[in-house]
Amino acid sequence: MYRVAVIRGDGIGPHVVECALEVLKVISEKHNISISYEDAPAGDAALREYGSPLPEESFKTIQSSEACLKGPVGESAKDVIVILRRRLDLYANLRPVKTLNPQIPAWRGVDLMIVRENTEDVYRGIEDVGDDYAMSVAVYSRRGTERISRVAGEFALSRRKRVTVVDKANVILAHRFFRGVASETLKDFQGVEVEYMYVDNAAYQLIVSPRRFDVILTTNMFGDILSDEAAALMGSLGLAPSANVGDRYGLFEPVHGSAPDIDPRLANPIGTILASAMMVEWLGKRFSDSRAVTAGREIFDAVGVLLRRGDAATPDLGGSSRSTDVTRTLIEIIRSY
Ligand code: NAI
Ligand code: MG
Repeated sequence: MYRVAVIRGDGIGPHVVECALEVLKVISEKHNISISYEDAPAGDAALREYGSPLPEESFKTIQSSEACLKGPVGESAKDVIVILRRRLDLYANLRPVKTLNPQIPAWRGVDLMIVRENTEDVYRGIEDVGDDYAMSVAVYSRRGTERISRVAGEFALSRRKRVTVVDKANVILAHRFFRGVASETLKDFQGVEVEYMYVDNAAYQLIVSPRRFDVILTTNMFGDILSDEAAALMGSLGLAPSANVGDRYGLFEPVHGSAPDIDPRLANPIGTILASAMMVEWLGKRFSDSRAVTAGREIFDAVGVLLRRGDAATPDLGGSSRSTDVTRTLIEIIRSY
């Protein structure tokens, strides 16, 4: 029995998380996987209800589970996700981008993985603000850079064996350090080709020739920004999943936020559904459970079928379906396998 903590979050969060839980129920029954779920309230609603965006009770629930499925939270994101990444030492943020039905020919066949460092950089919170100045310090440690570089190297070995290190080493001294440590660490990965690219060019290349990328290794803030950009290649930010993983724990969430500007019933649930697929696959690998690995991949495959067919699309993809229609269609596809 896997214990999963669930943060439903704010805005469209509770709605898209419910859709993912329905898919998980079907896939678990089909593959005979047993998962128990426990709510861990966090975010703006938790702040209103319990006086804290991440109540200690919720943290304990998360800490005593094997994995966490998280919906987006709102304005308190910094006090929820940034804190969880640090307290649980979830140093790798993995953001796969695969295009299935892209609008633009150059975006066909994109299959890349953004490996974003997840605990350092300006998100470390070393900052100060006065009347006439403000500063946020970007910090990169050797240990932090080495371990994220190893994650990128491992991924490259299991993929097309190419890592693009993205930084701003021409201007920022600390990025010269990041690049140097990444370069040293990646030497251990025989057969992996390493290239270096400045972030401004990487932002451009992602639009004009995204197929050139296999694994992108980058810093926390650049990974944050480039992954929203890369999600646009898929057709919508609402499709993009992510995993926050450390050596022992994994937290899975969509890339997007709480989307307060849209009707939750019309939100695209696929980013969260794919995050839950990453979770099931990760649990399978971590606990040597091939059924869970298969189940996670099956969700990805079913989403592929759904997007290629193009029916049951929410408004962000140009359709008029509701989240629940998309979920129902996806479940039919999973059942028909
Ligand atoms: P956002 O990702 O919520 O929205 C950006 C745009 O994408 C909006 O037009 C939105 O309608 C659209 N969008 C996002 N997800 C969608 C979905 N599933 N289906 C259809 N359209 C979707 O980013 P924004 O507006 O900058 O932030 C809103 C709130 O989310 C803020 O309070 C922010 O702090 C929070 N946030 C939380 C994150 C987390 O919990 N990890 C991550 C990013 C933002
Ligand atoms: Mg972001």
